[in-house]
Amino acid sequence: MGSKSLQFFSLALTLLLLLTFQAVFADLKHKSTSPFQFLQHLQGCHKGQNLTDIHKLKKYLHNFGYLSYKNKTHADDDDFDELLESAVRTYQLNYNLKATGSLDANTVSKMMRPRCAVADIVNGTSRMRTGRKRAHHHSGSFHTVSHYSFFEGEPRWPASKYSLTYAFLPGTRADAINPVSRAFQTWAANTHFKFSRTEDYVNADIKVSFESSDHGDGFPFDGPGGTLAHAFAPTVGMFHYDADEEWSVIANPAAFHLETLALHEIGHLLGLGHSSIEGAIMYPTFSLGESKSLHGDDIQGIKALYNF
Ligand SMILES: *[C@@H]1O[C@H](CO)[C@@H](O)[C@H](O)[C@H]1NC(C)=O
Ligand SMILES: *[C@@H]1O[C@H](CO)[C@@H](O)[C@H](O)[C@H]1NC(C)=O
Ligand SMILES: *[C@@H]1O[C@H](CO)[C@@H](O)[C@H](O)[C@H]1NC(C)=O
Ligand SMILES: [Zn+2]
Ligand SMILES: [Zn+2]
Repeated sequence: MGSKSLQFFSLALTLLLLLTFQAVFADLKHKSTSPFQFLQHLQGCHKGQNLTDIHKLKKYLHNFGYLSYKNKTHADDDDFDELLESAVRTYQLNYNLKATGSLDANTVSKMMRPRCAVADIVNGTSRMRTGRKRAHHHSGSFHTVSHYSFFEGEPRWPASKYSLTYAFLPGTRADAINPVSRAFQTWAANTHFKFSRTEDYVNADIKVSFESSDHGDGFPFDGPGGTLAHAFAPTVGMFHYDADEEWSVIANPAAFHLETLALHEIGHLLGLGHSSIEGAIMYPTFSLGESKSLHGDDIQGIKALYNF
């Protein structure tokens, strides 16, 4: 009798341990799947070092517009060289971090945040910090003015084209339709644009779809975490969500908010680049469960682009 109940007890204990292990393991797996996880191990590195995975940091900064090597050998090696230091410094200025040029804890923590896949800088234009540089120059202090930005060459929709149609790729998850439509209505309420939904996907001005990894436009997504969505400058009209993310209609701590990302990507579709104002919808990073709306900076930006 005693040994029977002991047997039962140890069986129960084993099961319990197994379940606990499984839960912990699943959690670990979930946490380490971010494509930006490699940055954690690079914390503290600086110019002159030669560490495995520095080439990944170079690729990261290249993808977001901060780094462009003329010599491909240097783009792919693990040397923390002068050019990389200067790219890290530019990143730090854009994100209002101390411009140390090294991968300090604050920089790593910012870089690891899930974000829009659109580059912060296009073609060497310091898009996010035009305003900041001016403030710097006059006062020598570290405060910000306005921080919206435009794409290189300031592409925009022609004045005659203020009424735009949008369509979802046939088969798009039904729960995305209302959040995206609400986001278009929010932009309409703050601009001269009108947006109407059409079923004619092929001829729509703006095409919305969920895409996974390499999807044919030259800007592959990266699985869960990392980059969340992207959209193209006027008048391309393409808006893609990363299908590998958890998405939600109502803000939920285990998912990214469909409407918030739609507000951001529509900003790109209309011609806005990223903003260094953290409260702006055009700020590049997003957290799980975060929901945001348009900010004065976004509205100032779109007004300046279209002169209304
Ligand atoms: C970095 O490491 C690689 C591989 O070990 C080596 O070929 C290269 O010369 C090193 N560079 C520097 C600057 O130490
Ligand atoms: C690129 O850099 C490598 C290593 O410094 C050098 O050997 C090579 O000649 C360079 N290539 C070009 C095209 O400059
Ligand atoms: C970047 O600059 C090059 C050369 O000036 C130009 O051909 C290219 O279209 C530009 N790319 C973008 C995205 O503006
Ligand atoms: Zn963006
Ligand atoms: Zn795409």
